[in-house]
Amino acid sequence: MTKDLIDILQLSREEIDELIAKAGDIIDHPDVYAHKCDGKKIATLFYEASTRTRLSFESAMIELGGSVIGFSSATDSSVSKGESVADTARTVECFADIIAMRHPKEGAPYVAANNVDIPVINAGDGGHNHPTQTLTDLLTISREKGRLDDLVIGCCGDLKFGRTVHSLIAAMSRYENVKFVLISPEELKIPEHVRTEILDKGNIDYEETDSLENAMPNLDVLYMTRVQRERFFNEADYLRLKDTYILTPDKLTYAKYDLSILHPLPRVNEISVEIDKDPRACYFKQVRYGKYIRMALILKLLGVD
Ligand code: NCD
Repeated sequence: MTKDLIDILQLSREEIDELIAKAGDIIDHPDVYAHKCDGKKIATLFYEASTRTRLSFESAMIELGGSVIGFSSATDSSVSKGESVADTARTVECFADIIAMRHPKEGAPYVAANNVDIPVINAGDGGHNHPTQTLTDLLTISREKGRLDDLVIGCCGDLKFGRTVHSLIAAMSRYENVKFVLISPEELKIPEHVRTEILDKGNIDYEETDSLENAMPNLDVLYMTRVQRERFFNEADYLRLKDTYILTPDKLTYAKYDLSILHPLPRVNEISVEIDKDPRACYFKQVRYGKYIRMALILKLLGVD
């Protein structure tokens, strides 16, 4: 295990399984963990919008007995005066024990990590990676399905800019007999580097389609995503593509009875609110799991037993 978590592939399968087991223990015995991080501080440095990720890191540290400092937008800090990520990180290191950073530029958390001795967690860097969302997704899948092997996982929507999908595919490449069905319009297909570096290199079974209806009957997990407006070069393309897939109850007619529907959230239009009451909808449970897995990760990176 490295000092930081920048890319999900820094964790071995065994380490991921240990984090999932630890999160399960925290769920069952929260009192045991309530003072594990007394006196410790997490700094949440968010240069890009967030609701779940930032608040779940903060709740995670608070529930471990620690406290929180940070900023939730670049305009709230000296970044607006032109300070570099490296200098901001070195400053924050004087105050905090661990950093969670989200940044619109790919690689920014890596730069921060290389400039400080305390652990840095990538809380999402541009269209690149989002390892703690993936840990959240893995905990959700493992609790819902009872396994992380032998699954057909459909990823639907913006597979080009959706960083959570890139990290999820990388992580699941560590498990046995996992097949991906990649459902997107032509313009939003998975990037070439994910195809060659993860899918092809790992010999992962996958198919690409633009039809959610055709893919549905075979899926064990359906991972819906939002079209990432902020990463488009022009608004017209976003408007043309944003409603390509909308999951409605009729589309679930041919789904497995035990399908698990995940979404990293925020949702815009891609899942109709009528789906929320379907027992297969897991996306709000997924938010809750995000806190527990981040508690497990904070303990691991801080070396707290
Ligand atoms: C995701 C993200 O920020 O990449 N959200 C999250 O962290 N839960 C997905 C998204 O913004 O669409």
